[in-house]
Amino acid sequence: MAALSKIAAGNGHGENSPYFDGWKAYETNPFHPTDRPEGVIQMGLAENQLCFDFIKKWLMKHPEASLCTAEGVNKFKETALFQDYHGMPEFRQAIAKFMGKVRGDRVKFDPDRIVMSGGATGAHEMVTFCLADPGEAFLVPTPYYPGILNLCRFDRDLRWRTGVELVPVICESSNNFKITRNALEAAYEKAQEDNIRVKGLLITNPSNPLGTILDRETLKSIVSFINEKNIHLIGDEIYAATVFMEPEFVSISEIIEEVECNRDLIHIVYSLSKDMGFPGFRVGIVYSYNDALVSCTRKMSSFGLVSSQTQHLIASMLSDDDFVDNFIIKSKKKLFKRHEYFTWSLSQVGIGSLKSNAGLFIWMDLRKLLKAKTFEAEMDLWQVIIHEVKLNVSPGSSFHCHEPGWFRVCFANMDDDTMETALLRIRDFMRKNNAAMIPHNKLCRRSSLKLSFSRRVDDFMSPGIMSPHSPLPQSPLVRARS
Ligand SMILES: Cc1ncc(COP(=O)(O)O)c(C=O)c1O
Repeated sequence: MAALSKIAAGNGHGENSPYFDGWKAYETNPFHPTDRPEGVIQMGLAENQLCFDFIKKWLMKHPEASLCTAEGVNKFKETALFQDYHGMPEFRQAIAKFMGKVRGDRVKFDPDRIVMSGGATGAHEMVTFCLADPGEAFLVPTPYYPGILNLCRFDRDLRWRTGVELVPVICESSNNFKITRNALEAAYEKAQEDNIRVKGLLITNPSNPLGTILDRETLKSIVSFINEKNIHLIGDEIYAATVFMEPEFVSISEIIEEVECNRDLIHIVYSLSKDMGFPGFRVGIVYSYNDALVSCTRKMSSFGLVSSQTQHLIASMLSDDDFVDNFIIKSKKKLFKRHEYFTWSLSQVGIGSLKSNAGLFIWMDLRKLLKAKTFEAEMDLWQVIIHEVKLNVSPGSSFHCHEPGWFRVCFANMDDDTMETALLRIRDFMRKNNAAMIPHNKLCRRSSLKLSFSRRVDDFMSPGIMSPHSPLPQSPLVRARS
């Protein structure tokens, strides 16, 4: 057979990675409450499925927004024929306004700087193509974004077709994985020693997989670092609207209003995949303060446009202020309740997690369960979780975490009953395998855990009626806006 190109023949896509195991296990035996009650529950997918009832109501009320309806069909032809890489003006306006609302209207976004792409994945690749040549590098704080079918997505999204390198900035659990100036300097120096030219720093705020946000001081220090080094800063803010508890999210777009910096170095990647829960629509955005980058990514966006049908629907939906305002509040409330209930339930069986206030996942701490402090031991435990506990979670090593024993667990991609089943499996696993670790009185109480979970989930569902003696804080963000 005639040979394919190096890109085609290589494994840049990552499908042969050992992390694929969890996906295979899930795909061959997916959980279903009646058909496959013993199947694998998918907890490795960062999807936001909690608000679809609300979205469905809007769609029913606005049939004209969907073009394949009696009310929308008159616009079908013009929308089907239309395609311009600038994007529909109403789409760009609606996105710019939504980005502002998600950031508390503290900053405004210019619709003329909105460039569309096929999801944040396409946005990242376009920015990478524009900022770096093959062999040049970006610094990326660890742990960083894994992916759906191919874990280590930044490795794939940024590196595969561009030939660009990623240099890890090592962050540690001892200070809650803070991005410190020392860690940034160390990574930068290491790259220089290795003769790698650093072109930029890529941060994900809120963080996937940590579910934490960067505080103002850290963001300021990051901006001053990239300014001093004269390198670019890419802020992936695709989880901005998932911040469900104080402190409030601070965008890089706010920081550059507060500190002196060369704005040509600042670029934001956004998408509707997480904040709205629409990964299938492939709505990705590059928002750059650099005119040349806006112009180049706009031309490049021809390779991954958002379909005009999707632009039309999104423009209609996001121009509806009432809908957007309510959606943002509702989504935060739902995420808050899920998160609080899930972390509380885990804590009842002796499992801790990193304190977080954003995202669609938690960063679960299973260091105590490792047979040794090694990544081999982490993989062994992961295999048990997949094949015996039958939960597809993601091991920390797939996120380039520096320390074994951490796992990302997604909590917003399933219904309440499936989550109960997952929690029951975790309880059984802890009881069977770690009885020694958990005080006996806790184990006894856990025999009625299902009941206890059910009672609690009702509490979480209505923060308004939460007892003042509840062990859980009510989300200040939710309270402030409701
Ligand atoms: C931090 C981060 N960036 C980018 C992406 C890709 O998003 P999209 O589905 O919009 O391509 C993901 C998806 O999980 C992510 O977590």
